[in-house]
This record gives sequence, structure tokens and C-alpha cells, in this order.
Amino acid sequence: MTRSKKICLITGASSGIGHAIAESLKNDDAYQLVVTARRIDRLNALKSENVDIIAGDIMLPEFQHDLEKHIMEKYGECHYLFNCAGSIEVGSIEEIDIEKMVAMIRLNVEATFRLTYAFLKIFKKQGLGHVINFSSVLGTKVRPTAGAYAASKFAMEALSEALRMELAGTAVRVSCIEPGLVVTELHKNWPVHPKDSMNIKEPLTTADIVDAVQFIIRQPAHVNIPKLMMLPRDHVI
Ligand SMILES: NC(=O)c1ccc[n+]([C@@H]2O[C@H](COP(=O)([O-])OP(=O)(O)OC[C@H]3O[C@@H](n4cnc5c(N)ncnc54)[C@H](OP(=O)(O)O)[C@@H]3O)[C@@H](O)[C@H]2O)c1
Repeated sequence: MTRSKKICLITGASSGIGHAIAESLKNDDAYQLVVTARRIDRLNALKSENVDIIAGDIMLPEFQHDLEKHIMEKYGECHYLFNCAGSIEVGSIEEIDIEKMVAMIRLNVEATFRLTYAFLKIFKKQGLGHVINFSSVLGTKVRPTAGAYAASKFAMEALSEALRMELAGTAVRVSCIEPGLVVTELHKNWPVHPKDSMNIKEPLTTADIVDAVQFIIRQPAHVNIPKLMMLPRDHVI
């Protein structure tokens, strides 16, 4: 590996958005990837010389520490943190499964804040780095039955917005992508897929998200893209 490669940590890389980002970067020699999620069989599909696979539960602080240790011992630096791991639980505040809701908040908020906290220190020390967060259009507005999910995404917006200001003037950047409906595994357990309940004929694809990511990471050093909302054309929200 040449030292000029950009080291990328991609969470949630076993499916959906994280997997698609990993697929798009893994054949580009400019990048060395470290991909993570719990399902090792899915991560193994990304196997390549440019990809380190480390399976585990991102909610565990000790596992996050292992990821950081692996990257710093092997590469001594890290350039991109893609915070893609996430989940969704819906239901009215009165009726939502409270334990599942708390697990979602811990994943979407606690795990993201912890990992960002750790890698920010690396980025600040290097004087270079980029955090790419996946919020949602529901990080900007609330809908009935989506209060808890929106709360977790509002927290990611707050994280991203605070960092934007705290990092102003440095070469450490943060971008927060706010997609509407994307076809992934996020809604796989729903009895009715939101594309049907919301009459969205053509939801976003992970390829659309990859295009946005490529746009963001290819900006020149003086340009910051703090937020990017993307909606399917017929997503009324
Ligand atoms: N799809 C959409 O419509 C949409 C819209 C707006 C925003 N988003 C956001 O985009 C992000 C990616 O979602 P997606 O749509 O790509 O969903 P997805 O296909 O369900 O992917 C979620 C990823 O998170 C990982 N993950 C879940 N729990 C984990 C844990 N405890 N430890 C480690 N990894 C864990 C999953 O891997 P394992 O199960 O293998 O661990 C999987 O790789 C999420 O934050 C989501 O809220 C999605």
C-alpha cells in the first residue's frame, strides 16, 4: 500500500448505503477501506486487497476501540469516517416498543457520537479528515409515528451542525446527508414498504447516494458541503 492512500472507516457496510459506498470506493486505488457491521458473511462480499473487514457490534465501546486501534496500528492515520450504521423503529410515542426504541437511539445517537468523538481526535491531530453522517429528511422534520426516529436524526443534525462551527477554519470537515426514501434493508421487516404506503413510485437508490458521496468527497479543499438533502421526486413530506 502506498502512503498516499486515503484511509476510510465505513460503518454499516454489510447492506444498503454503507455497502454501496464501500463497493464504489473499493476498486479505487486512492482509498484503503476498513469496513464494519455485525454480519461477517455480508462484509465478506467486499473482500479485496483494499478492504479490511472487521465484524462487530458498533454499540460496544470496546469494539469501537478495537476499530480505532486496528486503523492506527496498521495505517497510523485515518481520513474518512462514514457513519452509515443505523436502524429505524416507528410507532406512536405511546405505543412504540420502548426497548427497541432505546436500542435504536443507542445505535443512531450514542454509537455515532462515540465514534465521531474518537476519530475527531485523530483528524484534529492530523489536521485533516472528513466525517460523513447519514441523517435523514426526518432529521429536519417530524411526522406522526416517526417521533423517535426523527429524534435520533435530529441528534445527528445537531452533531453535524455543532461540528461544522467548531471545525470552521480547519481542514477537518463534516457533511450530513439527509435522504428521503432509499431502497435498502432498513424497512425489511415492515409489513407494508413505505414506497407503497407513501406512494413513492421511484425511491432513491443506493447508487444515487453514492453519487452524492462522490460529489462531496471530490470537492476542493476550500469547499465545504455541510448538508445535502436528497428526495425522490414524488416523496411528499
Ligand atoms: N433507507 C432509507 O430510506 C434511509 C433514508 C434516510 C436515512 N437513512 C439512514 O441511512 C443509514 C444507513 O441505512 P440503510 O438504509 O443503508 O439501512 P440498512 O440497509 O438496514 O443498513 C444498516 C446497516 O447498519 C448496520 N448495523 C445495524 N445495527 C448495527 C450494530 N449494532 N452494530 C454494527 N452495525 C450495525 C447493519 O449491519 P449488521 O446488521 O450486519 O450489523 C447494516 O449494515 C441509517 O442511518 C439510516 O437511518 C436511510
